[in-house]
Amino acid sequence: MARAIKLARRGWGQVAPNPLVGTVLLKDGQVIAEGYHAGFGKPHAELAALAACGAPEGATCVVNLEPCTHAGKTPPCTDALVSAGVKRVVFGVRDPHPDARGGADRLRQSGVEVEEGLLREEAAALNAPFLWAHARPERPFIALKVATSLDGLLADQGGQSKWISGTEAREFVHWLRAGFDAIAVGRRTVEVDDPLLTVRGPVEPRVPPSRVVISRSGMLRRNRQVVRTAKEIPTIVVTSSHMRDQTEADLAKTGVTVLGADGMEEVAAALRQAGVQSVLVEGGGSLAGALLEAHLVDRIYWIQAPLWLGVGVPAFGDREGMPLENTIRWAVTERRGLGQDTLLVVDRELCLPGS
Ligand SMILES: NC(=O)c1ccc[n+]([C@@H]2O[C@H](COP(=O)([O-])OP(=O)(O)OC[C@H]3O[C@@H](n4cnc5c(N)ncnc54)[C@H](OP(=O)(O)O)[C@@H]3O)[C@@H](O)[C@H]2O)c1
Repeated sequence: MARAIKLARRGWGQVAPNPLVGTVLLKDGQVIAEGYHAGFGKPHAELAALAACGAPEGATCVVNLEPCTHAGKTPPCTDALVSAGVKRVVFGVRDPHPDARGGADRLRQSGVEVEEGLLREEAAALNAPFLWAHARPERPFIALKVATSLDGLLADQGGQSKWISGTEAREFVHWLRAGFDAIAVGRRTVEVDDPLLTVRGPVEPRVPPSRVVISRSGMLRRNRQVVRTAKEIPTIVVTSSHMRDQTEADLAKTGVTVLGADGMEEVAAALRQAGVQSVLVEGGGSLAGALLEAHLVDRIYWIQAPLWLGVGVPAFGDREGMPLENTIRWAVTERRGLGQDTLLVVDRELCLPGS
């Protein structure tokens, strides 16, 4: 299953709104074929593995997501596994998609032995945006990326944050962006850093993520990079409802889409209505803190650099304190080095369909 999850990751940036899926076929404890879902509209992982396999009769199929029952761009994976004579299927998490779910039952009815839940947490973490899109359709999956000093600061006292983290961490962030529908920042980050917020890394996404600027005032200068390039790359400004018309007039002919929303829940709902299923929020601290306070952050990618700043921009703005007994402990999904920096990925709650 660990291998299936690793294979699934090869579809990063290519498969959305589909899930990431990898498959390993085994016989007598030996791997006989592998496959993964390489892109939206391309064969599902199980079909790719079967196509790479000479004699699948009697094999065990290990796959991170329940095989689908859906005849869409490709035939149902359940039927293909049964026709190929696969004897046993082991999967990680159930598929919540209304058109695709029920694969385990269909396989059992066809005489295939089915085991579910192997590395369930890892499989759920891999496809968190997909699973949450079905469990919570009213808003996108929201992940936060922060790069801080050892003392939890995003930038020095002059607002300078280029570059707190090293080359490997910045490459990782470009890889990360490729897997999200949108990249969001607060208005001050646009003013101070003037970021382009595009993907310029090892993975070219099938659909480039939209850029989103959250600004209650709507006071975004037309000479900022995200505004100047809005005709080429979709750019959304979410402002308060009473500033919507004014902001739209200020940004007329730039190509920027302006949405009106009051409060973070409405901001999230407005983005979902605009078609955004997953969003990577890249700061700054005030926006990150407001989202956390509203319990709207599902995952944090925290990059900690080995340096100390003393005074600067806090990672989560100036917030009210919370007693230890009232806080929740997030699930650690990943922990590893990125050059000199350290990456910690935590999930507030894993979505485990059918459990
Ligand atoms: N190291 C990193 O990973 C990283 C990443 C990003 C940024 N940074 C640094 O962070 C600094 C900017 O961070 P920041 O905290 O000053 O600003 P910020 O979070 O980027 O932007 C704050 C702005 O977001 C808008 N906003 C909308 N709703 C909000 C709400 N409920 N609460 C708070 N803000 C809301 C407001 O815009 P309006 O004023 O228009 O209403 C507010 O002024 C810069 O120095 C930048 O270099 C570092």
